[in-house]
Formats: sequence, structure tokens, C-alpha cells
Amino acid sequence: MLKADYAARQAKLREIAGVDAVALVPGFNMYYFTGLEFHLSERPVVAILKPDGDLSFIIPELEVPKLNQRPDLEARAFAWSDTNGYADAFREAVSELGLNGITLGVDGLTMRVTELLEFQKNAATMKVSAIERQIIRIMAMKTPEEVESMRKAARISEAALDKLMAWVQPGMTERQIATRLSEEMGALGSEGHAFEPLVQAGPNSALPHGMLSDRELGADEFLLIDFGGRYNGYPADITRTFCLGTPTAEMQKMYDTVKAANEAAIKASGPGVAMGDVDKAARDVITAAGYGAYFIHRTGHGLGLAGHEMIPQIAEGVTDLLEPGMAFTIEPGVYVPGLGGVRVEDDVVVTETGIDVLTSYPKVFKRG
Ligand code: CO
Ligand code: CO
Repeated sequence: MLKADYAARQAKLREIAGVDAVALVPGFNMYYFTGLEFHLSERPVVAILKPDGDLSFIIPELEVPKLNQRPDLEARAFAWSDTNGYADAFREAVSELGLNGITLGVDGLTMRVTELLEFQKNAATMKVSAIERQIIRIMAMKTPEEVESMRKAARISEAALDKLMAWVQPGMTERQIATRLSEEMGALGSEGHAFEPLVQAGPNSALPHGMLSDRELGADEFLLIDFGGRYNGYPADITRTFCLGTPTAEMQKMYDTVKAANEAAIKASGPGVAMGDVDKAARDVITAAGYGAYFIHRTGHGLGLAGHEMIPQIAEGVTDLLEPGMAFTIEPGVYVPGLGGVRVEDDVVVTETGIDVLTSYPKVFKRG
């Protein structure tokens, strides 16, 4: 676990305009702002942060020891038992923290109807405001320690890919290849996966978010691998596309186009650059090669604890500017139904003067 200044992070949360308190449920943002990890389960846990800095938790009794291990948080517990249920804990929190009549900021993507209804039962005049963009805006500004964790995650992932590629042969199934990749990552010290690795062979690679199958890899087909390990909780997200045999001229052209698009987008990235201009740099290359209609997603997404993060958004027409500390992926792709797809994905961080590319795995298509 990375050491973090939770008080400083919470101070930024309190600065969010237009809300009188913020409520977080278990997940990446509760972890980011408090360092506490709980499962999002049928037993509600809610962190409530008030503008005066007061931090409280509505929390099952059995989880209270986790709070007690963190005296630095100075958190107050509204504990509830499995016997009595959580209704009283919500009522007490609303009453003692004065939540009635206020505007409560929540992450609209993670707060469930369950928690919301429980608040509203006790606070008829409470307003709710979805502030996930403001929350992720804070998390988007990576510290050097966070960047180093992502760099380490990328190194581990790439070392695992190296081992995999020395082993992989035509005739193996997507599932076999993915399983082996997982084993290599574990052996190299990855904390599990940032997401389930995607191994796609032949025409399957034409589905950007396809599923693993038992399809056997043919020698002269595309082999697309999208995966990433974690280190200190921070992810890597890397895609490389290979051919173990002899690609057709069309496959080679697709690959060369996507690689050039990836490189153009990296070159276009930097502080003060509009996010949409990075997308455009990649898209122009692909369009010029005649594959514009086959590039069916954005060029990249924010990268952080949650894997995909909403900010920055490297997509067509986004005028927001890249700022130092923002981490994101650059992953243009071309997908031709029936034939297959190519994607080349790197992880980058904006610096004061340019761009720091965290991934370095060679972009070599033919591996025969
Ligand atoms: Co990916
Ligand atoms: Co990605």
C-alpha cells in the first residue's frame, strides 16, 4: 500500500463547490480518500465527510476494528449490528451530523439506491448532488509516487508478456494463453490483474471488448493481448498485437497504420494540449489509411486506481486541456469484422514539459 496524505486528499474533497457534505461507499474513491478497503456488499458502509473536516462512518460492528486501526483518521463510527440492522445507524448519523436540509455530494456511479433511500428516509429535505466528475478530477492528478507505482505495474506486466511470447505457439487456445499470462504475472509480483486479461485470436480480435474463448490460435492470424498487472494498487493497461506466422498484406497495413496512429498520439500529447487533439492525431492517421470507419472507440481513457478513469477523456471533440499529473492510455485500434483487429496501447503521464511513457514493450508485429 502506498503511503498517502489522506488529510490533504480529504481537504480537496471538502473544497468541492455546491455540496455541504460528501458521502462515499466502498470502492476506489473511499480507498483513495481514507486508505480503507471494504467490500461493497449487502452490509452498507458509508463514509461521510463534513466541511469542518469531521469524518464519520456508518459501519457494521464487525468492521469497526478496521477503523480503530486508523487513529490518524479520527473517524467517528455509527456502528450497526447484524441483529438490529442499519436503519438506526443511518438515523443517528443524519440527526447528529445535521444532514437534513443540506446538499450531500455522492459518486453517482457507485452510491446505490439502498444507501440513498436510507438517507432520504431520515432526511426528507436533503438534496443529493452527483459529484463523480469532481472526485475523479482530484484523483486524476497523480503524485510521483502514484506514477512510480504505475511504472512498476507496467514493468511487471511487460516482463510477463516477454515470458509469454517466448512460450506461445500456434494451436494454443485463447484461454490457455490467458491463463499462462496470469501465472507469469503472479510469479513476477503483480497484485492480481487490473482487469481480466483479454487474449483474442484471429477474427475474435475484431471485437474490442470480446470474451475469452477456447478458439485455437492460427499461425498466420492476429493475436491481440490486452492486459495489465497492479502494483501498490495501481494498474497497467497494455495492448500489443502480434502475428506468429506470415500476415497478409492487409494485416500488415492494418498493423502499420495503428502503430503509426499510436505514435502520432503520443507525439501530440503534452501539458496544455486539448484531449480531443490527441484523439485527432491518432484518428487522422487511421482515416488517411482508409480505416476511419473501423476505428470505433476513443483513443484513450484516464488510468488510475479504478483502472479506467473518467478524466482525462481522450476522445473526439473534447476541448479540456491535459495537465501535468494526468495519466491515461493511448490505444487506437482498427477492427475489420471477419478478419480481425489491431490495437496498440501504451500508458502515459503528462509532465510539466511533455509526456512520460510508462510502457516500453517493443511494437513488433511479426513474431515468427
Ligand atoms: Co487495455
Ligand atoms: Co485501456
